[in-house]
Order: sequence, then structure tokens, then C-alpha cells
Amino acid sequence: ENHILGNLPLYGKKVMITAGPTYEAIDPVRFIGNHSSGKMGFELAKSAANLGAEVTLISGPTNQSIQHSSVNIIPVISAQDMYEEAHIYFKTVDIAICAAAVADYRPKEIALQKIKKDDSTLTLELEKTKDILASLGAIKTNQFLVGFALETNNELEHAKGKLKRKNLNLIVLNSLNDKGAGFKSDTNKVTLIDAKGHITEFNLKSKADVAQDIFNEIFNQLDA
Ligand code: CTP
Ligand code: CA
Repeated sequence: ENHILGNLPLYGKKVMITAGPTYEAIDPVRFIGNHSSGKMGFELAKSAANLGAEVTLISGPTNQSIQHSSVNIIPVISAQDMYEEAHIYFKTVDIAICAAAVADYRPKEIALQKIKKDDSTLTLELEKTKDILASLGAIKTNQFLVGFALETNNELEHAKGKLKRKNLNLIVLNSLNDKGAGFKSDTNKVTLIDAKGHITEFNLKSKADVAQDIFNEIFNQLDA
């Protein structure tokens, strides 16, 4: 028994985090993706590991890396891959945080050969991906489940709707309105909303500090 580790607040706890974008294949050489850097999810994983947790980080394609023996990175490409891995690990974790920017739609069919530029227009038919976070909310037992919400308008209302609909314990509202907040930046401005509708607004700060704020709020909620 390590007495120093034993004092850490997440010692003995398992944490699962989804991070990064997903890539949805169009044909063998093309995909639909988004600008998520994965930074927020990787900072959450680092924080959790530094707080003593055993971390599973399910990540879409990013340039991020982590050197921490308590973080197990599961690389995935598509929303479907991420869904399957998340469901493998979710049953065993104490805390799950879905920070990934999962594609909402994917091509209904993946062309087996590279699509040639024959016609002057090209129409792709898209179908909805599975909502990973909502599917976890639907099966959750004792896990503390955290989601993100990226909104540009009626932010609080939309975020509260997602919290309820997806059966979350906490939602992190990401404001894209402020300069320096969001996808590619190193900083974020967030508002946390708990299951009782209690709202805490934070200033613009580094994603590492945002990760700390999120875990502090999780500790408050678990102690309550
Ligand atoms: N999410 C997920 N699986 C999806 C889509 C979203 O797990 N297929 C998760 C995200 O990781 C995030 C939360 O759901 O934690 C909210 O994502 P967001 O894109 O803000 O909301 P959506 O529910 O996808 O709705 P919309 O994009 O229409 O606002
Ligand atoms: Ca979405």
C-alpha cells in the first residue's frame, strides 16, 4: 500500500474519458471530420491520473500524447468504434466523462473504391451515428456521468435539455462566444450545470485548469 497515493482523492477509482474528433469514412481515402484537437479530453485524463485514478482514454485521431503510466489510451477512428469501446469500459468505471466531438452523421454507404469526379455535383447521403453519451446514460447504474455541450445560442436551455435527456450527473457547457475558447485553443470558458439545475460559471482559463474545476465539482457532488 502506497501511503502517498492512498491520500489522492481518486486513488482506487476508475475513470473513462472520450476525447478528440471522430472520422467517418466516405471512401478509402476520404472522411468527414471536425476541428476538435482532443486537448480538453487529454487534460481531463492527465488531471484524473494526477488525482490517483486509473484512466481509460478513448480517443479519436489527435496529435496529443500523455506520458503517465495510469492512462491507458484506446485509439479509435469512427463514432461506431468509440461507441463499442466506451461500452466495453463503462461497466467497470466510477466516473465517465464524454468530451469527444463525435460526428452526428456519417455516410450511409462507404464507397469501396475512391469516388471519381465524374459529375459536376456529388450528393452524399448521411445517417445519424449512435449517441454514445445518451446510450451510457440509459444504462448507467452507479457511475457518475459527465457530458459536454457545445452551443452557440440559448446555451443554458440547450445544455439543461441534454443533461436531462441523456441522464447525466453533470454537464459542461462550452461557450464558443468568447475569444480564445473552444476547439483549437488552449483555453476554455465553461459553465457547469448539475442534475439539480445548479449553475456555476467559470472564467476563461487554461484547459488544464478547467479540468481541475470539473474534478472539484465532481468531488463536491460525490460528497453531497
Ligand atoms: N456525444 C456522444 N455521441 C454522439 C454525439 C455526442 O457521446 N454521437 C456526446 C459528446 O461527447 C458530448 C455530448 O454528447 O459530451 C453533447 O454533444 P453535442 O454535440 O453538444 O450535442 P448533441 O447531443 O450531439 O446535439 P447537437 O449537436 O445537435 O447540439
Ligand atoms: Ca453533436
